Amino acid sequence: MNDLSGRRAIVSGGARGIGRAIAERLVAGGARVAIADINGDGARAAAAELGHGCIGVACDVRSTADVTAAVAAAVDAFGGLDLLVNNAGIEIAKPVVDLTDEEFTRILDINVTGTFRFTKAAVPALAQAEGAAIVNMASVAGTAGGPLLSAYCASKGAVVRFTESVAIELRAQGIRVNAVCPGIVATEMADRLAGPVEAISPIPFDELIALKQGRFGAPEDVAEMVAFLASSETPFITGSHYLVDGGLTANLF
Ligand SMILES: NC(=O)c1ccc[n+]([C@@H]2O[C@H](COP(=O)([O-])OP(=O)(O)OC[C@H]3O[C@@H](n4cnc5c(N)ncnc54)[C@H](O)[C@@H]3O)[C@@H](O)[C@H]2O)c1
Repeated sequence: MNDLSGRRAIVSGGARGIGRAIAERLVAGGARVAIADINGDGARAAAAELGHGCIGVACDVRSTADVTAAVAAAVDAFGGLDLLVNNAGIEIAKPVVDLTDEEFTRILDINVTGTFRFTKAAVPALAQAEGAAIVNMASVAGTAGGPLLSAYCASKGAVVRFTESVAIELRAQGIRVNAVCPGIVATEMADRLAGPVEAISPIPFDELIALKQGRFGAPEDVAEMVAFLASSETPFITGSHYLVDGGLTANLF
């Protein structure tokens, strides 16, 4: 297990799903985590269950004020910040001709601009820490397109390019920046994808996932990669993105 002892982290969107598993994995490695989620009650409940000095903060990543306050709360509670995991994200699965301006903009605002907001707010604190790291949650949707997912794929592609750009900018400050690209992971987000995909697919969603990935990803599969990239064992890894997709994107057939 990667040693994360003493590390002080923020995980956005950590009240449930992949973010929750990331928070658990960081704590298991010895970190303290501030869970920042639009679901403030869920964030506080998750933090209480995790223990180890974790805190939960109500935070909508669409709000610069919320994000700034969440960083301040983590720094106050922990005395500094070593890790930022930009995990909060949404997906709306619709044909491009049915997507509204508001929906398209909302996806970009949360998935891309939210990542920018948290990065900008956290850099001053991260720059004070030894071996600081940022891990951004992209997706296989950031490496290829897919029907019904035009806005989501555009947003995750942007997260990958943002990751690369910021990694180079922050290298001199000793802050590494990487992205993780999961395949389909068993969370509420994947549950919501099943109906729209089945409406355009000749085979049931579960069978499609078994065919493409072997199985659904588990949140813990993704959390393990985040812990690896956040750890002090990867000092020369920055500006990269890593697939955790059971071979989904490797298979021509
Ligand atoms: N589940 C998948 O198949 C999958 C695959 C690849 C990438 N991802 C990415 O992983 C991340 C987590 O996805 P998940 O499957 O756990 O989703 P989820 O819907 O189960 O959980 C998302 C979490 O983010 C929070 N959130 C939503 N909007 C927010 C906002 N504006 N501000 C703060 N928090 C907000 C939610 O309250 C929730 O706790 C997302 O970035 C998603 O795009 C998911």
